Amino acid sequence: MSSRSRIPGFYKLNIDARRQRLAELCGLDPSELTALDRGGLDVGVADTMIENVVGTYSLPFGVALNFVIDGKDVIVPMAIEEPSVVAAASNAARMVRAGGGFRTEVSEPVMIAQIELREVPDPRSACRDISDRRDQILSRARDLAPGVVSRGGGPVGLETRVFADDRIVVVHLLVDCRDAMGANIVNSIAEGVADDLAKIAGATIGLRILSNLSVHRTVVVTATAPDDALCPDAGAEVRGAIAAASRFAELDPYRAATHNKGIMNGVDAVLVATANDWRSVEAGAHAYACQTGTYRPLALWTNSGSAIEGRLEMPLAVGTVGGAISVHAGARLALAILGDQSAGWLAAVAGAAGLATNLAALRALATDGIQRGHMSLHARKETSS
Ligand code: MEV
Repeated sequence: MSSRSRIPGFYKLNIDARRQRLAELCGLDPSELTALDRGGLDVGVADTMIENVVGTYSLPFGVALNFVIDGKDVIVPMAIEEPSVVAAASNAARMVRAGGGFRTEVSEPVMIAQIELREVPDPRSACRDISDRRDQILSRARDLAPGVVSRGGGPVGLETRVFADDRIVVVHLLVDCRDAMGANIVNSIAEGVADDLAKIAGATIGLRILSNLSVHRTVVVTATAPDDALCPDAGAEVRGAIAAASRFAELDPYRAATHNKGIMNGVDAVLVATANDWRSVEAGAHAYACQTGTYRPLALWTNSGSAIEGRLEMPLAVGTVGGAISVHAGARLALAILGDQSAGWLAAVAGAAGLATNLAALRALATDGIQRGHMSLHARKETSS
């Protein structure tokens, strides 16, 4: 195993020395990191991104260390305002590294285009008629997205849902978005096929938009932290305490919300660093968390007898091309730090960061309490300012 992301004493270096070290390790020219002097975004570029721009707004950009993901040593870029998250992710990644690192399963990048059909005279027969014309509808949808089709993606499936009492049929077109997050592609397809679907169903057209509950675009991350990595003196005790904290989140939605917030600390920091739409991932994550009808933790930790084993499962619709990513210099730098610039790899890394910050939070809560860790980092900030 390489040790590219193990950089003892990195936190003690000054910012220039950290940049120098990071550039060496990631094969970057140190001048590329100067993009961060302007918060990664020129005001002129910002003016092309949103409306009524009067400036730009920065966040701290740091790197979490010690990550091994699917056997690769990874330096994880994070943009976040909250103290301790980067340190917590790095600490937990060191514990998981001792257990062989994070392992991930990333699904195909398939998003859902929702087309709502209203005032459907016979919803069930409309579903049958639409399903019978599946190939014709998918072919029309492919014509609407030549770019993604040429990259090996595009429409791949069709599903229907019925809300019979309201005479509504919802058609889901499943679209493989490759390395794009895909909102524009999916929305164009939804708008483009709606007329045909409405004719088949004898319906009027309702909403046409992607669903952020992207159940077909998910990541599963697993991790093992052995007792001596968890705590050299009291590994078994800490392991039991983390398993108990995880159980609390399973039992109680009030706790599950905070448990999941600890996961999103890691996930969102990677998404913000790479200029991804973190609101869409948040929306999808929380909808996924209550698919059983009860709000549940996205990650669980179980006691295996000599190690703690974690498993995270969540939708993670991210992109590495298109949108803000193409124009934001800070996001391009973050992707360069990650090396592999596929959307699947970004999803794997964001998921691993989320499982890491969850482990760190549960370990802290189950032992010293969160304030001690947090407060020591606040103190560092106060004494250094
Ligand atoms: C704080 O940002 C996150 C935590 O509240 C997460 C948790 O309670 O698991 C510490």
